[in-house]
Amino acid sequence: MAKKAASSSLEGTERSRPILHQRSAEIQPYGKIAKLSIALDLDACAHSVENLNQVLADTITLRDLYKKHHWQVAGHTFYQLHLLFDKHYEEQNELVDSLAERIQLLGGVSLAMAADIAETTIIPRPPRGREEAPVQISRLLEAHEILLKEARTMAREASESGDDGTNDLLVSDIIRTNELQVWFLSEHLVDVPLVRADNPVQTRAASAD
Ligand SMILES: [Fe+2]
Repeated sequence: MAKKAASSSLEGTERSRPILHQRSAEIQPYGKIAKLSIALDLDACAHSVENLNQVLADTITLRDLYKKHHWQVAGHTFYQLHLLFDKHYEEQNELVDSLAERIQLLGGVSLAMAADIAETTIIPRPPRGREEAPVQISRLLEAHEILLKEARTMAREASESGDDGTNDLLVSDIIRTNELQVWFLSEHLVDVPLVRADNPVQTRAASAD
């Protein structure tokens, strides 16, 4: 009786019910180019897409390294590093979106999922556990340098193939943002005293006392 009541409740809802558990062949395989009308030849698009997916994988990895360190940082500089790491995380996150969307507008397919990023990135994997702040900063600086090196090479390649948009993204956004973040990190590894100067020089006021 209850079964009959349930089936009568479904009657007439065929067109309003969601169609679940659907699967189909991909509409574009990874590594192929679905050319758009952007006046750029196919080889230039394909080469830029390949390069940008490498920068994307490394930028996602660096972004996530910042969040790991934002959570796990310890010590006297906890508060300022906690905030700085999150600021840089947000800036890298914006770069991730710009890179992925440029890959799509070039007709490519952007990497997205963590497992694919892990297989592609050339930034070394850190341990799961916590590390000292200077070690965290050193790892971040090494990751930035890997990114900057590849971005400069790829910016030149994009320029040579006529892909000015990719060159601009790499130079104006990737390179400049990474360089600035390197400066902010590096100054934390300069070993200067907090209160008492090393090797103080006798001043005129002090010698008059
Ligand atoms: Fe947070």
